[in-house]
Amino acid sequence: MSASSERYTSVAITLHWLIAIAIVGMILGGWYMSDLPDGAPGQYFLYQMHKSIGITILLLTVARIIWRLMNPPPPLPDDMNGLEKTGSHLVHLGFYGLMIAMPLTGWLYSSVSVDLDVPTVLYGAISWPDVPFVAGLKTEAASGAVEFIHSKLAWVAIGLLALHVAGALKHEFSAEEGVLKRMIPGLFGKADKPQAPGRGAVTAFGSALAVLVIVAGAAPLLGVMTGSGQAVSTDAAFEPNWTVDYDASSITFSGTHDGNGFTGTFGNWDAAIQFDPDAPADGEVRVTIATGSAEASQKLYTDSLKSPEWFNIAAFPNASVEILNIAATGDDAYTSTARLSLKGLTVDADFAFSLALDGNTARMTGQALYQRTALDLGQASDPNADWVSEDVTVDVVVVASRTD
Ligand code: HEM
Repeated sequence: MSASSERYTSVAITLHWLIAIAIVGMILGGWYMSDLPDGAPGQYFLYQMHKSIGITILLLTVARIIWRLMNPPPPLPDDMNGLEKTGSHLVHLGFYGLMIAMPLTGWLYSSVSVDLDVPTVLYGAISWPDVPFVAGLKTEAASGAVEFIHSKLAWVAIGLLALHVAGALKHEFSAEEGVLKRMIPGLFGKADKPQAPGRGAVTAFGSALAVLVIVAGAAPLLGVMTGSGQAVSTDAAFEPNWTVDYDASSITFSGTHDGNGFTGTFGNWDAAIQFDPDAPADGEVRVTIATGSAEASQKLYTDSLKSPEWFNIAAFPNASVEILNIAATGDDAYTSTARLSLKGLTVDADFAFSLALDGNTARMTGQALYQRTALDLGQASDPNADWVSEDVTVDVVVVASRTD
């Protein structure tokens, strides 16, 4: 039997069909999701899945190319003429180019897109950074051009697929030793086993894994970072007289996203409290919050919050809140103003709280409602609150002991 009737290695066959199905699914899914009206239920999830599977295709392509270099495919059948062989090689080459270009243009598009300024979290678990050093391309013109290339490549893929399938079928049925069965698992295809056992799996898949680890590992350096708290400022007129028990205290925020509720907390904040229940009007509380310490119920939200259009933690690592105008409204119940300064903007909200005193220890629970438009939060990707609710509720629990 001639070498041309050998099958590809099982690794090559698996990668071939996995990537082929994924690409067809990605084209259909890409068309579907980009035609949905903004804010359609599930659209956000579809975009994240599209990006996750697209990056997976890129990584599998790295493994596939290395595997192919280490395990040359069986030669083309002898009855193919020179032109057919050249055509077949060109189509294969085109596919390899496409398997790299489609994910790379998608990744570039989601990095420079003006309307889709949303971080990428692979399968909701792994932060994937934007393409480094392309922030300057975040313009309507550049992002439109990249989107154009990404979407037109789908048609290049369809053209190549048509040639590829036509070639495979022609040489399956017209040739003596079919080519299609060489790419079909041994159970179904009738071609012979490969002459040499496959080699280089560790190199091929290890390299793909290395790319994942290096790029995802660089995420914190490339903008997905955490911030640290800054001591609250004090002055002569302000004399804090309480010590906060941070383990027992919390600042939580909540709203809705894509129809579902979300919550989050700030892990790192610092509060200085000057308060006497007998003279509430003289009270004042100053809080500094490390914006990068925000942690939401899903990793995607956590990463989104750190990005430029939300907390922009690189430029504004801290937010501050002042509780002012405190007035008693009943037994252990108070009203006040919570003056929040975030990203250079200052917004007042009503802050109603209650106080439970037990000797020298107090437990304060309060709530304020903020509108994210006034704080310039998410105004590029979601100005109309299609996904994220305009209202965000902030719940505060502070347990503190009196020191004076
Ligand atoms: C083999 C991999 C990929 C294929 C076959 C593919 C295919 C597609 C297709 C057909 C569309 C619809 C374009 C249109 O509107 O006509 C699309 C849109 C999109 N793709 Fe991909 N894609 C791939 C990888 C990626 C990757 C890796 C990312 C990002 C990390 C990505 C991000 C996007 C985004 C954000 C859109 C939406 C464009 C919009 O709605 O404006 N793609 N993709």
